[in-house]
Amino acid sequence: MTLINKNVLITGANSGIGFSSCLLFAKHKSKILAVDISPEINDDLKLKLKSLGVDFQYFQCDVSDSAKVNGLFQAFESDGVVIDILINNAGILGPRKKVVEYSDEDFDNVIDVNVKGVFYFMKATLKVFIAHKKGVIVNTASVAGHFGMVGHIAYSASKHAVMGMTKTAALEVAKYNIRVNAVCPGFTQTAMLSSADTEPDYLETLKFITPMKRFGESSEIASAILFLASDESSFMTGQSIILDGGLSA
Ligand code: NAI
Repeated sequence: MTLINKNVLITGANSGIGFSSCLLFAKHKSKILAVDISPEINDDLKLKLKSLGVDFQYFQCDVSDSAKVNGLFQAFESDGVVIDILINNAGILGPRKKVVEYSDEDFDNVIDVNVKGVFYFMKATLKVFIAHKKGVIVNTASVAGHFGMVGHIAYSASKHAVMGMTKTAALEVAKYNIRVNAVCPGFTQTAMLSSADTEPDYLETLKFITPMKRFGESSEIASAILFLASDESSFMTGQSIILDGGLSA
């Protein structure tokens, strides 16, 4: 693997797939730049990163706030921090409502975080990557970026947008030795999935429709993220890996 001492910026680091990704990259001796909206790093994450003995820093940033994102990158520049790998992972699900009941405000919230957040981080990171003629981005999209998802019009739209941004950015920057790919998880056991449990048997139904009859673990998604971030996938760009227990097969 080619990840030793690499500066890996992971958004949505405090929970779920971002949390597991921080730990997996740390196990491969990367330096972790953890970003999340909470004022503090998750205590458990902090303890685990400390016990792995890697360099890590935590940054509070709302990914949907372009001024905050730009401020973060200005701070990196002043401190001489050069990012090698961006894991654009922070995201929200939004409420489960039919299209005709979905509020404009909820739609905007999901798009702000899942689409604009990914765009702001890609844009700021790619400026650095292009200057250094290297870098890797992995975006967390979703199976909902390939298919419709009843009750989640904004989420599905946002993840289709992530796929579009992944492909477009990949085409634009391939000549600079920069790769951009995405992972597309199916139902994965995280706080986001638990938050969808608003109706009896809903989660059981999601499990039932998944051919493997279980939810994914965030560590299983992190493994694919690590593969896409490493030189093991060096000829792959503008693509996505679906990890969904057979849901979309
Ligand atoms: P999670 O809820 O466990 O973690 C999401 C993290 O993002 C949280 O730590 C949260 O604080 C952070 N976050 C949310 N809004 C933010 C903002 N505005 N600025 C900065 N940080 C923010 O959820 P999970 O499942 O780990 O989600 C990670 C990614 O995986 C998301 O992009 C999600 O859409 C995607 N995904 C998740 C699936 C699942 O079934 N859990 C399935 C497919 C995709």
